Amino acid sequence: MNQKSMNPKNILVTGGAGYIGSHACVELLQAGFRVVVVDNLSNSKTESLSRVRQITGLPLTFYQCDIRDKTALADIFAHEDINTVMHFAGLKAVGESCAKPALYYHNNVYGTLALTEAMSEANVKQLVFSSSATVYGESGCTQYSEHFPLGAINPYGRSKAMIEDILRDLSAADILNQAKAPWKIALLRYFNPIGAHESGLIGEDPNGIPNNLMPYISQVAIGKLAQLSVFGNDYPTPDGTGIRDYIHVVDLVKGHIKAIAALEGGTFESGGCKAYNLGTGQGYSVLEIINAFEKVSGRRINYKIAPRRAGDLAECFANPELALKELGWKAEKNLLDMVADTWNWQTKNPQGYASVEAGCASTEATG
Ligand code: NAD
Ligand code: UD1
Repeated sequence: MNQKSMNPKNILVTGGAGYIGSHACVELLQAGFRVVVVDNLSNSKTESLSRVRQITGLPLTFYQCDIRDKTALADIFAHEDINTVMHFAGLKAVGESCAKPALYYHNNVYGTLALTEAMSEANVKQLVFSSSATVYGESGCTQYSEHFPLGAINPYGRSKAMIEDILRDLSAADILNQAKAPWKIALLRYFNPIGAHESGLIGEDPNGIPNNLMPYISQVAIGKLAQLSVFGNDYPTPDGTGIRDYIHVVDLVKGHIKAIAALEGGTFESGGCKAYNLGTGQGYSVLEIINAFEKVSGRRINYKIAPRRAGDLAECFANPELALKELGWKAEKNLLDMVADTWNWQTKNPQGYASVEAGCASTEATG
């Protein structure tokens, strides 16, 4: 099979039923791509895909499949005319990764190896990978550029760093061997994705008590959780609380569509593997986020100051210039958009997808 004979509009989305993957499916379908989702539903529900169909009015194909199952993947590549893979599937909870490192390395690292082997055998060699700003670790910087040294500080972060290494090595080997159809890989390092689709039909649906700031605040605002703990107010930042680069999930997935276009274009003409930061370049403190949430929701956020959380940086935001220069991508939405869309999703789905899932369980749904 020749890579060029494949329909460039056919995309396989691993982890497509999850938070970011479901938003990517909407953008892909609306941009005219045909979407095939592979997800084992370990952290998602098929309801998200029903909502994707509802938003777009377009069909997508879903396989309930674990990316570590190479035989099943080979079968999917044999049946679907895939050109590019967007790889979101992975486990992402930092605390859980410290308690169960082998699970994280097996799921994330081995899973990506199995995926790339199946891709290679099917001669599908364009990949957009969900990496994370967490690969930068604690270098003492505040604004991160792609060439900065890497140094992840927990098993989740290291699983992402290891995958980046593997993907760089695969690409370098193809260039060394002058492969006819070399790997073309975009490593997208996300800063802090938040928000939801403007319809309020899809959004972040964390299992149990959220670890991350935005879903936590949102559940305090709706009354599901009693109080937010602000982890530290003695950082060397203007108000003492941690500063992060929050990015709207819809902006983030638009960056993925731009990455596909770049893989097809001049920058990657001879193959390659390149990292791009996806962030806004603008940081906000925890207190600024709380204030914005109170303004948008009209609710008071009950919070207390608590000790710092182990492993947290004072300040971390992106230098997003490379993505602008080479992908032609820039985040468009501001903090109030991010908060308003989070609140819209939360109020329309106070129990996430849970309330509707019981009535529409489905393991393999097409169209
Ligand atoms: P998510 O948990 O909502 O989505 C991940 C999806 O992958 C889920 O639907 C899950 O069921 C699926 N999955 C996990 N392991 C699988 C496997 N072995 N086989 C098949 N499917 C599998 O998470 P998300 O927030 O949408 O994150 C998507 C990707 O982006 C992840 O790789 C994550 O590490 C990365 N990322 C997320 C953030 C963030 O803040 N959300 C930040 C940086 C990077
Ligand atoms: C965390 C992960 C990171 C992962 C990212 C997205 C850690 C140490 N880092 O990043 O690896 O890529 O999520 O999934 O877990 N905060 C509070 N109270 C809370 C929650 C958070 O004050 O209940 C503060 C944090 O201290 C931080 C900011 O809010 O200053 C953002 O936290 P969070 O949303 O968890 O993201 P990160 O820590 O940046």
